[in-house]
Amino acid sequence: MFGTDKNNTKAWKKVKSEYKRFKKVHMRDLFEKDLARAQKYTLELDDLVFDYSKNRFDDGVLQALLNLAKEREVERKRDAMFEGQKINSTENRAVLHAALRNKKENPMCVDGKNVMGDISAVLEKMKKFSEAVRYGTFKGYTGKKLTNIVNIGIGGSDLGPMMVCEALKRYWQKDIRCYFISNIDGTAAVETLKNLDPETTLFIVASKTFTTIETLTNAKTCRKWLIDALGEHAVDKHFVALSTNTEKVTEFGINKENMFEFWDFVGGRYSVWSAIGLIVAIAVGFENFEKMLEGAYAMDEHFKTAPLQKNIPVVMALLGIWYNNFFGLHRYAVIPYDEYLKYLPAYLQQLDMESNGKSVDKDGDFVKYSTGPVVFGGAGTNVQHSFFQLLHQGTDIVPVDFIVPAISHNEVGNHHEILLSNVLAQGEALMRGKTISEAAKELEKAGKRKEEIDFLKKYKSFSGNRPSNTILLKKITPFTLGQIIALYEHKVFVQGAIWNINSFDQMGVELGKALALNILPEIEGKVLHRPHDSSTASLIKKIKMFRR
Ligand code: F6P
Repeated sequence: MFGTDKNNTKAWKKVKSEYKRFKKVHMRDLFEKDLARAQKYTLELDDLVFDYSKNRFDDGVLQALLNLAKEREVERKRDAMFEGQKINSTENRAVLHAALRNKKENPMCVDGKNVMGDISAVLEKMKKFSEAVRYGTFKGYTGKKLTNIVNIGIGGSDLGPMMVCEALKRYWQKDIRCYFISNIDGTAAVETLKNLDPETTLFIVASKTFTTIETLTNAKTCRKWLIDALGEHAVDKHFVALSTNTEKVTEFGINKENMFEFWDFVGGRYSVWSAIGLIVAIAVGFENFEKMLEGAYAMDEHFKTAPLQKNIPVVMALLGIWYNNFFGLHRYAVIPYDEYLKYLPAYLQQLDMESNGKSVDKDGDFVKYSTGPVVFGGAGTNVQHSFFQLLHQGTDIVPVDFIVPAISHNEVGNHHEILLSNVLAQGEALMRGKTISEAAKELEKAGKRKEEIDFLKKYKSFSGNRPSNTILLKKITPFTLGQIIALYEHKVFVQGAIWNINSFDQMGVELGKALALNILPEIEGKVLHRPHDSSTASLIKKIKMFRR
């Protein structure tokens, strides 16, 4: 499709030449020359403001990037996704998480079948069930209200609901508590269960495939814990399942009536909008869950209809490509300045890295360019006191996404004003930096001697010119949260489209899973030894010795 080095197309070459022209330009100068830069490079959608002005680009760069998006047919590929075409080519599946938040009267089809009826039916079932748990009409086996809700799942069946429950904690019903067991490490189950009362505990077993060893093992442990306390008959009142696999759910011993279905056109890391969000609906109420869907729908509509240069996910994706493929910055940090969003970086790690951590393109060829970046992050201001030193003065530049609400759910004293000034100061400092002569002047002002100034001035200087996006929200609400999640989903989609990779499979996690199953019988002592490299073999030997 693209010739020998098929990525090196006309539009790609143009971006490369823009990079040569622009790479040394300092953002300080851009801001000084153009007082309207921030207005020019800010996009808004409802109560979400996306300020991308603190990035290393000008109109010429942006135009070249937009042309790249056009050349790579981002719009056609986007429409193909919304039309239910099987864009997940390796698994021959449609990718229709957007249908989960679509208005039920707008048809969305897979294989010619409108899926909106099935989706509405499950949403209705979720509504009824979540209300019954919240109002206490669906009770535990001994007649007590179920107030401890435990989600057992991993990856997309854990990170999405966990992140959203935490983000919307202020909306939780007072007597409801949510817990998450994901890790196979027995500590996760033991530490959670030790504080719970079986009579008031509801387990939600969340697994798209219902074959994931971590989830099934944890679910079995929880089932045994429940049965030991209340007997086998209690299971129906304390276990529900969220899955695409009815057969495996019934095989596990969960009543079909207690199963909430979703479908293989919903990828695990895109599933929080589906039945996988049941714990969210129980915790915050179905109306709030629906508001989150509405927020995502608003972002979907924006993504579908806004021209590329005004399209927030598109612009965000293009800037990511600019840094990753042209500046060689294969990483970015997500820093929410909101305690409730503390799990967002972990959630986005799966979303981005499992989607775009690929090396073979859609034509089956190894790629010759970088694809998905490394994502990391944490909540501000905490991380200012951990890894921000490197962001400001390290030799590696890390583009940052700052996310902050203007209004906190907890306006205590002047906490939030301090937090807001910090987030803005970080973006400003990364952009402006401080020259050596500015540092020297400051030291002079502080009364330092000449030798001290000469010694310290370089240490106290900052190169600046370090990019960041600022996503400012009015407040963290179910609606704005839905917008943010969908924004990142679409950003990841656009980048995958430009890299010509399949963002919707995850075959990279398979090898480790298969090898673990091969090693397990050795650790359990059921098989003496299997062929391994010497490192793995000797570690197995040592483990067995320690465990003897
Ligand atoms: O890590 C691989 C993966 O398949 C993820 O994509 C998925 O979210 C997770 O495992 C859990 O899968 P399941 O929901 O099928 O248990």
